[in-house]
Amino acid sequence: MNKFPKDFVWGTATSSYQIEGASDLDGKGPSIWDAFCSIPGKINNNETGNVACDHYHKFKEDIRLMKDMGVKAYRFSIAWSRIMPTGKETVNEKGIQFYSEIIDELLKADIVPWVTLYHWDLPLALQMENDGWLNKDITDYFKEYADVCFDQFGDRVKNWITLNEPWVVSILGYGQGVFAPGRVSKSEPYLAGHHLIIAHAKSVKLYREKYAHQKGKIGISNNCDWREPLTESIEDKAAAERAIEFFIAWFADPIYLGDYPKVMKKRLKARLPSFSEEEKELIKGSSDFFGLNHYTTMYAANSDGITKEIAVNGNGGISEDQDVDLSINKDWKVTLMGWAVVPWGCKKLLKWIDKRYHKPNIYITENGCAYPDKLIDGEINDQDRLEFYQEYLKACQEAIAEGVNLKGYFAWSFMDNFEWASGYEQRFGLHYVDFETLERIPKKSANWFKKAIKNESAEVTL
Ligand code: GAL
Repeated sequence: MNKFPKDFVWGTATSSYQIEGASDLDGKGPSIWDAFCSIPGKINNNETGNVACDHYHKFKEDIRLMKDMGVKAYRFSIAWSRIMPTGKETVNEKGIQFYSEIIDELLKADIVPWVTLYHWDLPLALQMENDGWLNKDITDYFKEYADVCFDQFGDRVKNWITLNEPWVVSILGYGQGVFAPGRVSKSEPYLAGHHLIIAHAKSVKLYREKYAHQKGKIGISNNCDWREPLTESIEDKAAAERAIEFFIAWFADPIYLGDYPKVMKKRLKARLPSFSEEEKELIKGSSDFFGLNHYTTMYAANSDGITKEIAVNGNGGISEDQDVDLSINKDWKVTLMGWAVVPWGCKKLLKWIDKRYHKPNIYITENGCAYPDKLIDGEINDQDRLEFYQEYLKACQEAIAEGVNLKGYFAWSFMDNFEWASGYEQRFGLHYVDFETLERIPKKSANWFKKAIKNESAEVTL
C-alpha cells in the first residue's frame, strides 16, 4: 500500500460565516455577508448564515466528531466582526472567549488548530465607512485586527492563514458581484486584489517581528483550478498558461517572485495597480507555506481576441481580460456544483506550483465536492464523495512520489454548511447536517476518510 509521509497533516476545514450562526449574538457586529444575504434574490432561496450549523453553540460536539475521525488538524476562520464589531478599535471580549474556547478544546482533543484570519466576512462598518478592500486604509485595519488575534491566540495557535482566496474576494465580490459586497466592475477586482496582497504582507511582517517568540508559521490560501489546453496548438497551450497565471500567479507571483505576472501587466495596463519598490520588498517572501484550495479542472482555448463573457458556475472569471474560452469534457463526471472531477488536474497543478515557485511546502487547505446527499434509514451513502476523496488523494500521493513537497490536505468540509450564494442546497460536508434539527451524522465518506487517516493511505476501502 502506498503510504503518505508520517508527518502528513490530515485535516478538515470550515469557515466562520458558513457554520457559526449566532450572527448578532454576544456583541458580534454585522459583516458584509449578513448584509448581502438580507438582499432579496442574492442567495438561493434567500437563505442566510444567521443560524447555519449553530457551531457557535455546538462546537464541542463538532470537535468530538473530529476527534472521532482522527483528524490531526482543523482549519477554521475567525469572524473579524465577532471580535471587533466595527472592524477597528473596540474589541469584543465575548468573541475572544468563543475562539479561545475552541482552541483549547481542539488542543485537548489533540487536534492542531489552523486559523484563517479572513474568510470573506468583512465587518460591514469597514465596507460602509471605508469602501472595504477598495481603500488602502484597510491594509492597516487588517493588520490591527491580525495583531489582536496573534496577541490573544498566538500562544496556542502556531499555524496562521491570513486570507482565504483573494481571487474569489476580488472577482466574485468586486467583479461579478455574485458574492458580498456585490460590486460589478472591470477594474475594482484588481484594486481590491492589490490591497488584499498588501494587507496580507503587512500582517505577516507584524507576526514575524512582534510575535517571533510564538514560533508559528504564517501563509495565505489561494485558490486555483487546473487549466488544460483544449488542443495541442501553441495558442491553446499559451491560453491555458495565461488562465493559470490570471488565477493563481496574480497572487502568488508577488509573494514568491516579487511582482505581478508579466502577462497581467501587459493586458490590464492601468487597471492593474503597481507596487512600489518598498511594497515589493514587503511582499516578497511573505508566506511560510503555499496554501492551495483546489476544486476542479477545465479546458482552456485561445479565444482569438474575441471578447466573451464566460462565467461557468462562478469559476470562469473575467475572461475577456484573458481571451480564454473555458469548457469541460462531456465524459468527465461532475459534482452538483457542475464542477468536473479530474484528479490528474490536481496533480498537474501541484507540479506547476512546485516548478514555478521553486519547491515550496504546499498544503491543500481545501478540496472537496458537493453531491445531492439523501438521508436514508439514518445513513448517507455518498459513494461519489468517497471516490472523489480517494482519487484526489491518490493524485496527491503521486505528486509527492514525484517530488512535490505536499505536506498536508484539508477536506472541505467538515460538515454541510452555508455554501454562499448557493445556500444550503450544496452539501460539501463529510458530516451530514439536518438543518431543521441541526443533528450531525457522519457520512460514508467520513468513515472512509477516518480509515485513510488511520492507514495513512488513500488506497483503503470500506
Ligand atoms: C471555496 C471557499 C469555501 C467553500 C468552497 C466550496 O472557494 O473557500 O468557503 O465554499 O469553496 O465552494
